[in-house]
Amino acid sequence: MNLAITGPTSGIGEITLQKLIPHFDKVFLLARNADKAAKTIQSLPEDQQSKAEFIHLDLASMDSVVKAVKEIQEKSSQIDVLINNAGGIFHEKTVTDDGFELTFSANHLGHFLLTNKLMPWILKAENPKIINVSSEAHNAANVNFEDLNYEKKSYSAFTSYANVKLFNILFTKSLYEKYAEQGLQAFSLHPGVVKTNFASEAGGIFKVFWVLARPFMITAEQGAETSIFLAKNNIPSSQNGSYFKKSKPAKASKAANSKSMREKLWYNSEKLLAKWL
Ligand SMILES: NC(=O)c1ccc[n+]([C@@H]2O[C@H](COP(=O)([O-])OP(=O)(O)OC[C@H]3O[C@@H](n4cnc5c(N)ncnc54)[C@H](OP(=O)(O)O)[C@@H]3O)[C@@H](O)[C@H]2O)c1
Repeated sequence: MNLAITGPTSGIGEITLQKLIPHFDKVFLLARNADKAAKTIQSLPEDQQSKAEFIHLDLASMDSVVKAVKEIQEKSSQIDVLINNAGGIFHEKTVTDDGFELTFSANHLGHFLLTNKLMPWILKAENPKIINVSSEAHNAANVNFEDLNYEKKSYSAFTSYANVKLFNILFTKSLYEKYAEQGLQAFSLHPGVVKTNFASEAGGIFKVFWVLARPFMITAEQGAETSIFLAKNNIPSSQNGSYFKKSKPAKASKAANSKSMREKLWYNSEKLLAKWL
């Protein structure tokens, strides 16, 4: 059994990796920072370290995503579980070299490309699973499909983040619709409000709120529980495609259940990524 996880170098992803590695033969750490990945691997119990392999992946560079997929395919014959965990909120609008707004690229487009390119490898597994780490912030989404990179409207860090967390749920439902018949299970989740490195690049009112809320936040160990639960357990097929909170299916927003929204997201993502897909 092989696992691939994005964002394993910090917070929820690092704990998810630590807890799941004993259950897998091989784990790919898909990370942008080689030094941090090496430290994460060194912090694992000695008998688990040889199972862990760092693959360079920067979700802000689509060439890097394509390269990472090739490397995974050279080093494995299948991926049983893919956890799309990496993400962040960014105060200033940043445009990547590929021309995408950074929040959109790092939280959605990079994972869309990674998942689709890796799909033949995922579908080789007997019980393949894809787990997308979303957020309750999706409730505040306000999406304009005509302006996904904020070229016309002014950029708001929180709205951009809320939108991509909605995209994580819509993407999950689309994966379920497109691939459940081939055995795929896809889940999205809210981890809780978790004390991690998250929001270190935030600013303004959101940053103030986040700093004030820190004493009330749950630990990364608690925040990783739903991802671990979904990766380790047999989930009934009736729950396939669902959004989870506290390891149970939960209600997502009306937009998160909108068929037309998920179709628009898939169409636009494919169009924007045509060069790499
Ligand atoms: N913390 C919360 O309260 C909360 C609530 C709801 C949802 N979430 C979601 O939980 C997930 C994990 O967040 P966290 O709280 O554990 O935050 P974190 O401690 O900041 O970890 C984020 C991870 O994402 C990686 N990452 C960020 N940008 C990347 C890029 N361009 N390419 C590759 N990797 C990148 C980071 O890599 P580096 O180590 O190199 O920075 C890090 O490993 C995110 O999707 C977040 O939206 C968090």
